[in-house]
Amino acid sequence: MERIKFMLDEKDMPTRWYNVLPDLPEPLPPELHPGTKEPTILPPPLFPSAVNEQEFSKERFIDIPEEVQAIYRTWRPTHVHRALRLEKALDTPAKIFYKYEGTSQAGSHKLNTAVAQAYYNKKEGVKRLTTETGAGQWGSALSLGCRFFGLELKVYMVKVSYYQKPYRRILMETWGGHVVPSPSQDTDIGRKILAENPDSSGSLGIAISEAIEDAFKNDDTKYSIGSVANHVLLHQTVIGEEARLQMEMAGYYPDMVIGCIGGGSNFAGMFLPWVRDKLSGKKPDLRIICVEPQACPSLTRGPYAWDYGDVAGMAPILKMHTLGHAFIPPPVHAGGLRYHGMAPIICHLYNLGYVEARAEYQVPVFKAGVEFARAEGIVPAPEPAHAIKAVIDEALKCKESGESKTILLALSGHGHFDLAAYDEYLSGKLQDYEFPEDKMKEALASLPEVPEGT
Ligand SMILES: Cc1ncc(COP(=O)(O)O)c(C=O)c1O
Repeated sequence: MERIKFMLDEKDMPTRWYNVLPDLPEPLPPELHPGTKEPTILPPPLFPSAVNEQEFSKERFIDIPEEVQAIYRTWRPTHVHRALRLEKALDTPAKIFYKYEGTSQAGSHKLNTAVAQAYYNKKEGVKRLTTETGAGQWGSALSLGCRFFGLELKVYMVKVSYYQKPYRRILMETWGGHVVPSPSQDTDIGRKILAENPDSSGSLGIAISEAIEDAFKNDDTKYSIGSVANHVLLHQTVIGEEARLQMEMAGYYPDMVIGCIGGGSNFAGMFLPWVRDKLSGKKPDLRIICVEPQACPSLTRGPYAWDYGDVAGMAPILKMHTLGHAFIPPPVHAGGLRYHGMAPIICHLYNLGYVEARAEYQVPVFKAGVEFARAEGIVPAPEPAHAIKAVIDEALKCKESGESKTILLALSGHGHFDLAAYDEYLSGKLQDYEFPEDKMKEALASLPEVPEGT
C-alpha cells in the first residue's frame, strides 16, 4: 500500500519562520523611500514596528509568537499529499507530491501572514487596517485575521474581481470586512483615476495606492500587504518548513519544487526553506520553478529595475522585475497573479540563478486545473493551476525520458469561488490574452528616476 498523505501532528508544527536574508550570497538591494528615493531602513510608517524589523531582519530564524501559533493550529499543519491518481492518469514515472494550503478557513495560504500581521498590529494598539485584494483571497484572509484579533478592516478590491467574484466579497463581509471596488470614490487617487477613466477595471497597483492613502489619512489605521514584502514571504515559510518534515516522512527529496507567483508569497513560503540547501551548496541540482501568467509576465518579460509598488508612488521603491507600476494587466481569471512587479527576494534569487521562471496562457492552465480536479478531486484556484500546468509538463517529460523525478507542488488554494471561470473554460468560452507589450513599454516610461549608483 502506497502512502498518500503525510501528516504532521500539531505538536510538530514548526515554531519558527525562516528568514533567507542572512543566507543570500549577495545582499538584497535596499528599499528606497518613495519621496527622497534614498535607501531607507524602515519603509514609511505603514506597518507596525515588529513587522518593520522583520522586513530587514538579519536573524536566520524568527520565533512565531505563541498567540499566532495557537491560531495556526486551527488549521495547520496542512498535509502533503502524494498525487498517485494524477501520476497514474499521466502514466508518468515521476513522483508528484503537493502541499495543500486550501484547507485554511479562508481557502488559501494567505491566512498564514494575515494572522501574523493582525497580531502585531493589535499588539501595538492599532485599531483598523486597510488593504488591497485582487481575487479576494487576500482580503478574505485578512478579514478573518482581523476578526480573530478584534480589528476593523477596509478592503479595496480590484474592480474586475469585485464584479467577477461576488462570493469572495460576501465572505469578507461575513467575517466583518468592509469592501469597496477599486478604483473607488473614497480616496483622492481613486477619484482621479475614475475621472480619467470611469471604466477602469482596476489593478492591484491602484488598490494598494488607495489602501495606503487611507492608512496615511487616519491615525488609528495601518496598512497591511498580502504579498511581495520580505515580511510576508517570511510568514509564509511555515509552509516550506512543514513540507521539509513531511517529505522526510515520505522518504523523498524533491528534484523540483514548482509554484505560481503573483507577488511571490505562497511559492517563496514553500521554496525558501528548500533553497537554503541550494544556497549552502548541499543540493546544487535542486530546481525551483516559478510559474506566472502570459498576460502579466513580470519575471520573464519585465526588466529588472527600480519601481514603485503601487500606482500613485506612495509605497517604497523596490528593485524588481516589473512591467511598470502604471501597467494594467488584461483581466485574466487568476486575479491574484495580476501584479506589475514581483517580490524583490524572488527577483534577486532569479538574477543570481537560483530559481527559474516560465509563463503560461490561461486556457492550458484551466485544462491542467481540470485534469488535476478529475484525478485528485481538489478544484485548484486559477493561480496554482498555473503551477499544475508546469507540473504536468515536467511529469510528461519524465514519461518521455523514463526518469522518475520527484516533484513537489505548492498548491496554494482551492477554486470554489472561481467556478464561473471554470464554467467559461468548460463551455469553450475562455480565451487567452496576449501580453500587451506596447502597454508595458508605455508603463515603463514612468519608472522613477533614482540617484546614480543606487
Ligand atoms: C490561491 C492563491 N495563490 C496564489 C496567489 C498569488 O499570490 P502570491 O504570489 O503572493 O502567493 C494568490 C493571490 O491572491 C492566491 O489567491
